[in-house]
Order: sequence, then structure tokens, then C-alpha cells
Amino acid sequence: MSDPLIITIDGPAGAGKSTVAQKLAARLGLTYVDSGATYRAAALKVLEAGIDPHDEPAVVRLVSQTNVRVESNGGEPRVLIDGVDVTARLRTPEVTLAAALVSRLPEVRAKLIQIQRTFAQGRGVVMEGRDIGTVVFPHAQLKIFLKADVEERARRRLKQDSHDGREATLEKTAYEIGRRDQLDAERKISPLTPAADAIEIDSTHLQADQVVGQILDLIKKKGWAEFA
Ligand code: DC
Repeated sequence: MSDPLIITIDGPAGAGKSTVAQKLAARLGLTYVDSGATYRAAALKVLEAGIDPHDEPAVVRLVSQTNVRVESNGGEPRVLIDGVDVTARLRTPEVTLAAALVSRLPEVRAKLIQIQRTFAQGRGVVMEGRDIGTVVFPHAQLKIFLKADVEERARRRLKQDSHDGREATLEKTAYEIGRRDQLDAERKISPLTPAADAIEIDSTHLQADQVVGQILDLIKKKGWAEFA
């Protein structure tokens, strides 16, 4: 295989994409990329500028003037807005909701998709998101669509949030996840949908390592000797 390996992992919030993508990338010696971080960075910039994320012209104008970069020098990837490291500020509920809003705008997506494509220049990646297999890398060698029941996704998110020291209830979290699913699925461009050639894995009753094991089996079946 001459082209660097591109593995896409798409699916709804809380399906386990980040954990699986990171473990898989480490196992295969590929670079892990979280495309959602670019939308979160744009959303943070909008909020910090005091712009209402529903104000589409203002959002588009601001994002077009914003420089978003992701650096991964081996360790945790860092997200930079106009040169400032904002990684620690991307996972608040406010940014999460604003990211779902700004990611509906075609101009915002066009800009961030360009940036996401540069991550795979000359190197193999495992990239997670919503439209990586359908839009960002339609010719990726392996596409996974990871899904899980909404209650299970809410349970996982709650566990993660309590680790972050934030409070939430299962009911509220399930509601928020359902609302984001709706925003992501109803979006006019790049709605959340599996690529025709994606392999679907339901992680509701699986641990992350079991999902990674299934993907590694697929890779072995494809006969990619250097990864087998
Ligand atoms: O995966 P995440 O929760 O960090 O994503 C944040 C938001 O960005 C979420 O509303 C979905 C959106 N997103 C997207 O539209 N396309 C992607 N490739 C990744 C994320």
C-alpha cells in the first residue's frame, strides 16, 4: 500500500469514537485527529467574541478571519486559535451547544474541512467525526460508523463529565445528546449518516478494547501486512 492509511471513525456523540480512535491510532502508529475540536474551537472563538452563535452572518465573518490549528507532537493534540492554545476550554456545555450550531453553516464547514484534510498530508491518520468518511476523506481505505443506544451514550458522557468535576443528571444528559443528534442529523450539509462503504459497529454492549479488536480484525482481513 503506497498511500498513507486513512481510517475514518464517524458516529453520534458518545458512541465511544474518541477512545476507540485514540487506541487504534496508538496501536497502528498513526496520528489521531479529533475533527470535532476544530468546530469547538470555532464555537469558542464566537462565544468569546460575544457573538450569538445563531447570528449566521456574524459567525461566518468571524470564522473566516480566524486561524485554527491542531498540533500533535506525539503527546495530547493541542488546538490553537490565532496562535493561542485553547485545548482546555473546548469541552464546556456552552461550547458543545455552540459547536452544534456553528457546524451547520456551509462556509464554516468548508473552511474547517480544508484544515482537517491537511492533517493527513503525507501521514497516516485515524480521524474521528461525523462526515469524515462521507465528505472529508471519501476515498479513505477503512471507514467505521460507530453507534450506540442513546441511554448508554448518556451514561458514558455522564461518567466522563463527573470526572471533569461537572454536575449533570442522566435525564438531562440524554436530552442534550438527543438534541445534538437531531441538530447533526437534520443539518442540510454533511448530515450525520454512514458512508455507503462504512462498516457499522454497535458499541452499546462492547468495551472500547473490544471495538478496537474488531477493527484490527478487519484490517487483518484486508491483508495490510504492515499493520497485521
Ligand atoms: O465530536 P464533538 O462532540 O467534539 O463535535 C462537536 C460538534 O461538531 C458536534 O455538534 C458535531 C460537530 N462535528 C461535525 O459537524 N463534523 C465533524 N466532522 C465533527 C464534529
